[in-house]
Amino acid sequence: MNFEQVINSLPRQLLAPLPTPIQRLAASEKILDSPVKLYIKRDDLTGVGAGGNKVRSLEYIIGRAKADGCDIIVASGNGQSNLCSLAAACAARAGIKCLIVHNCEKPDTSAGNSILNDLLDVERIYIGDVDSTRREEYMPLVMQVLKDRGQNPYLIRNGATTGCGALGYANAVIEIRDQCRRQNLEIKHIFAPGGNGGIAAGLIYGNAMLGFPFKIHIISVEDDTPTLTKHIETTIAEMRRITALPFDFQVKDCADISDAYRGEGWAINTDQSRQMVKTFARTEGIYIENVYTSKLMVGFEDMVKKGLTGGDALVIHTGGFGSLFSQY
Ligand SMILES: Cc1ncc(COP(=O)(O)O)c(C=O)c1O
Repeated sequence: MNFEQVINSLPRQLLAPLPTPIQRLAASEKILDSPVKLYIKRDDLTGVGAGGNKVRSLEYIIGRAKADGCDIIVASGNGQSNLCSLAAACAARAGIKCLIVHNCEKPDTSAGNSILNDLLDVERIYIGDVDSTRREEYMPLVMQVLKDRGQNPYLIRNGATTGCGALGYANAVIEIRDQCRRQNLEIKHIFAPGGNGGIAAGLIYGNAMLGFPFKIHIISVEDDTPTLTKHIETTIAEMRRITALPFDFQVKDCADISDAYRGEGWAINTDQSRQMVKTFARTEGIYIENVYTSKLMVGFEDMVKKGLTGGDALVIHTGGFGSLFSQY
């Protein structure tokens, strides 16, 4: 079986109205005096909850959970986690239960994603202000409690950055290639953000499986390039185990992974990223947020200004709309 046949044979819960639109960024092209056409892929419009990248991951994760006979998915993250909120919304749509474990204190008043979670009435556990390593250590205990309750839980590890979750973006490369064919687009460069590296792993793996139709650019929002590259390698290794299709490449040779725009790290704005949230909405009428897509857009625009060659450029808007309302 080839890559497309393998990926189509895996369990999947259809959730997103795909393909997501590819739109021209005409105003940005003008302002940047871009020699290439610029496009945005609206993965903020993935059709469930507030939308965003994690819906693609959850299609494969919930598909796997159901195939394994699970009746509840367990998501964990900080109080504004996009993954947690989208897991709850996708679970509602897929007819499966969801439990969220937050590593923060229970907020006195809800904001952003936590309002959306209130509306969903999803069960939440607050384990206090501990780091994500401590939170992951706590998860086996939660799983045991659910089993003792007579439930059959599926744990979403590592913010859905797993081999299973990353299949969503491996599949997205097929989608983008097909959209380019249908719409006669000459896209060569794909830009995406890198947090834990799940989107990056999926894009890099999918692109390699299709014979490298695109050049992948990853803008780190958190870690330095060697650390992010390691995360990506780990997730690609997991994907390989699922698909049984080899990936005989070095990740560093398959993508341009930049840490030049991350500033002091995750969720800490740079002056440029803070400004970008406003500028992008005012020029394109599209909202981005402060943690992921703002730094992505800064990196994207800077690289466009420095000059891209060989074809047009697409930036993937990965969503996070729910969290925007907690950031001001
Ligand atoms: C809106 C948004 N964009 C990008 C990312 C980064 O994705 P990854 O962790 O797969 O690199 C996340 C992760 O939570 C996210 O919520």
